[in-house]
Amino acid sequence: MCTCRSSTHSPSPARIQNSPISVLVPVLLLNLCTLLVQGPYPASCIPVTEFFPFGTSSDQTTERSDDGGSGRINLTVMFPFFGNRHDKLYVNNNGVISFFDELRTYRPEDFPLTEKIPIIAPYWADVDISISNGTVWYRESRDPQLLAKATNEIRAFSAYRNFQAYWVFVATWDEVGFFGASEDGLNKKNTFQAVLVLDTTGKLSFVILNYAKIEWTTGSNSLGHSLTGLGGNPAQAGFNAGDTVHFFEIEGAGTSSVINLTATSNMGIPGKWIFRIDSSEIQDVCSQSESSLVSFQPAFTSMLSADAITVNGLCLDTKVPSIEGQLEGATGPRELCCFLEDNSARCYLPPLVLTGFVNISLKIGGGGWNYSGELEIKNIVDMPPAVIRDVPDEWMTGNTVSISWKYGFLEWATSYSIEILAFK
Ligand SMILES: *[C@@H]1O[C@H](CO)[C@@H](O)[C@H](O)[C@H]1NC(C)=O
Ligand SMILES: *[C@@H]1O[C@H](CO)[C@@H](O)[C@H](O)[C@H]1NC(C)=O
Ligand SMILES: *[C@@H]1O[C@H](CO)[C@@H](O)[C@H](O)[C@H]1NC(C)=O
Ligand SMILES: *[C@@H]1O[C@H](CO)[C@@H](O)[C@H](O)[C@H]1NC(C)=O
Ligand SMILES: *[C@@H]1O[C@H](CO)[C@@H](O)[C@H](O)[C@H]1NC(C)=O
Repeated sequence: MCTCRSSTHSPSPARIQNSPISVLVPVLLLNLCTLLVQGPYPASCIPVTEFFPFGTSSDQTTERSDDGGSGRINLTVMFPFFGNRHDKLYVNNNGVISFFDELRTYRPEDFPLTEKIPIIAPYWADVDISISNGTVWYRESRDPQLLAKATNEIRAFSAYRNFQAYWVFVATWDEVGFFGASEDGLNKKNTFQAVLVLDTTGKLSFVILNYAKIEWTTGSNSLGHSLTGLGGNPAQAGFNAGDTVHFFEIEGAGTSSVINLTATSNMGIPGKWIFRIDSSEIQDVCSQSESSLVSFQPAFTSMLSADAITVNGLCLDTKVPSIEGQLEGATGPRELCCFLEDNSARCYLPPLVLTGFVNISLKIGGGGWNYSGELEIKNIVDMPPAVIRDVPDEWMTGNTVSISWKYGFLEWATSYSIEILAFK
């Protein structure tokens, strides 16, 4: 159990005096690394404001009928999916993008499908937009802003630092209800998005799945309850190659847990799932290999730190028993306080009293220090302070000191203690 004890993290006064920071006189270090990690991280999702924009005049909508769709869409690129390349696709109201033909099947089926239909299923279930006022939007795009957004989201993974998006296809199921809904069931809506991304070489393809709201899992014809949209045979989510053999199901797909897709992730951001989908195996973009580079968010922090950083690029799920972190800087290795939360890893940094790059290594479940990445530590004078010393003059003379910080800086903690380190 990791409690971020300050005794192991506080720099010794001697080290402070030897460091460049000693030119800042008086020096008072605030150590907020004793935050107790107790607060439940808010159950979250990807808000529609963080979706790729949809519903604009450049979008088209699918046929406004139960089990309808877009009809054939000829693509301006060859899109690689599951080892094949496709020049057309269909957006289907029932939460599926299909490649050979439209898919009117309203009852989600287990993968692999016995028919030869390659599909991407962000959320295959019995949508009925004819009664629910929901809308299914789609567009193919090379808009530079969308490409920049796609490029950024995929570059967050260290293996794809040079990724450059060339083309995207954005399909959004906006406030869609379910077939057979009655009374309260009519108010249950799902909002989710699938963004297909192709790179400039035309070889790499990804899908970004964003889930903003999932309130129902099952239509009435799949034995769901008309008042709740739950029970029966819940929604399918994942990828079917179309060769009757290969497929990939997203965690929770086809079970009642599929309702939690807004809170789960394969990359540490609840409600977002990103997969590489061009090759014959669908891949999580995080690393499942036994050693790899990771990146951190934010990518730099202040030498006074006390910030929590999120580790990007590791596949972490409930099977991971523990995570340990270590920081290698100018003054030797130091243990970090790291913990697992929402399928991602977070680490607290102690005050560091150094600038430049440090290496952070991570150990999963008692293995070796197999995962590492670099983090930039900036001088406090180059960083806007997160914690401000109020009325500094009184700190030297009075009995009371006062600090303040921006609203939201500590919002997720339910309890924390503050340590003030001082020296003359
Ligand atoms: C798509 O391409 C096919 C085959 O080239 C063609 O027959 C069809 O008219 C095209 N559809 C549209 C909507 O352009
Ligand atoms: C659909 O929209 C109409 C008009 O805005 C509204 O009266 C009706 O309640 C809506 N139905 C659902 C199921 O949201
Ligand atoms: C969804 O997630 C919540 C919070 O982790 C959990 O309590 C609940 O049991 C999950 N629901 C299902 C149906 O798995
Ligand atoms: C971090 O690790 C890399 C690769 O092992 C090494 O080249 C570099 O010098 C290290 N940097 C620090 C600050 O320890
Ligand atoms: C770390 O890597 C070594 C070899 O590089 C491997 O034998 C070991 O299983 C890895 N440990 C973990 C936890 O992945």
